[in-house]
Amino acid sequence: MHYIRFLKLPRLLSTPSPVLSAKITVTTDLGESFLFTDLTLVVELESQSGAKILGPRNGKEYLWKGSDGMRSLEVSFPVPSSKKSEAMRMLIRPKENKHNVKHFNNMLVGTKVTTENDGRVVAVRSMDIDVSKAGLKGISGMARRVFFSNEKIISICEETGESIARHIWDAGLMLSSYLAITSPINTSPDLGHALPQLPVLKHKLSLSNLNVLELGTGCGIVGITLSIFYPNATQILLTDLPEASEIITHNLSLLSSSRGASVTHEVLDWSSPLPPRVGNINWDIVLVADCTYNPDVVPDLVSTLRSVARGGKKDVLVLLAMKIRHEDEMVCFDLLEQSGFMVKEKAVLPLLMLAGEPEQIEIFVSR
Ligand SMILES: C[S@@+](CC[C@H](N)C(=O)[O-])C[C@H]1O[C@@H](n2cnc3c(N)ncnc32)[C@H](O)[C@@H]1O
Repeated sequence: MHYIRFLKLPRLLSTPSPVLSAKITVTTDLGESFLFTDLTLVVELESQSGAKILGPRNGKEYLWKGSDGMRSLEVSFPVPSSKKSEAMRMLIRPKENKHNVKHFNNMLVGTKVTTENDGRVVAVRSMDIDVSKAGLKGISGMARRVFFSNEKIISICEETGESIARHIWDAGLMLSSYLAITSPINTSPDLGHALPQLPVLKHKLSLSNLNVLELGTGCGIVGITLSIFYPNATQILLTDLPEASEIITHNLSLLSSSRGASVTHEVLDWSSPLPPRVGNINWDIVLVADCTYNPDVVPDLVSTLRSVARGGKKDVLVLLAMKIRHEDEMVCFDLLEQSGFMVKEKAVLPLLMLAGEPEQIEIFVSR
């Protein structure tokens, strides 16, 4: 998967007439490689609610010249004169629908092998811009990712800088899509049936009063998606290091208050003992997405999982999603096995990459 990112957030230039201008790039989740093929991008302005496009329809097109080694691109869009007092967002997306990750189900294609022309690119939106004040409203240094699934909207803000913790990762995005599409409230069950099945997980997710803990939640996309698609969850606790607290709290504030589950946040560092609020609850499921890339911290992660499982009176399922980037990451499974966790089932989901080597996300369900 590739992600459009802001290198410079939109700012208002007012000569001769107002224009929003930004600098973007297109990279992988880790940011370690730029998109090295050409791709037509479209810049649009969206209303604050996201419900309508402001200004000329079909936006303004730009060519990302990845084949020429492009690493950044300046984009701009004129502010329509009739909209100068409205808050708006700048949206940058791939032109072709087949590349645009608008719907979760556009990311998951069962197990079928795909070509590199099928690659997906995640659009980016700015935070709300109050053009009348020529400033940014909301938290600065943030951008928004919006996904649709089954008439629900999953809106997640992430940081625009280099931080590992505070943006969305492939495994988190793919696990979120899988959970949404296979959820019992999905009204297009055929989509879910076309995906690899995880019956042990499905059974657990169907139980009432689920308590779900997420470790290394980052921006919170997996736990937040679960809260939207599994109304039977009673309690969902998103945890990470202290530096992720601000973005998690912000994303939780975007959630509709009509959900049944209580979705909250707590700091949990794997190298420290479990906070009482985590240790005192019988968890049913522990979510772990893209947290095994650094073998140095995996022993602490596994020891946290062991403490969670030992403390509870219930049978805990660990749902671990990863993009295996190097062999060292497999140490995680040795440590999990030594701690008594057994992998019960596994699903492999192809990651739709534009150009480059094929990649995949693996989802493991351990007990
Ligand atoms: C690659 S990010 C994945 C974020 C998110 N799960 C996703 O898939 O989008 C890894 C996360 O693990 C967290 N993490 C790393 N070391 C940690 C530790 N010792 N204790 C708690 N969280 C940690 C990071 O802060 C980061 O949010």
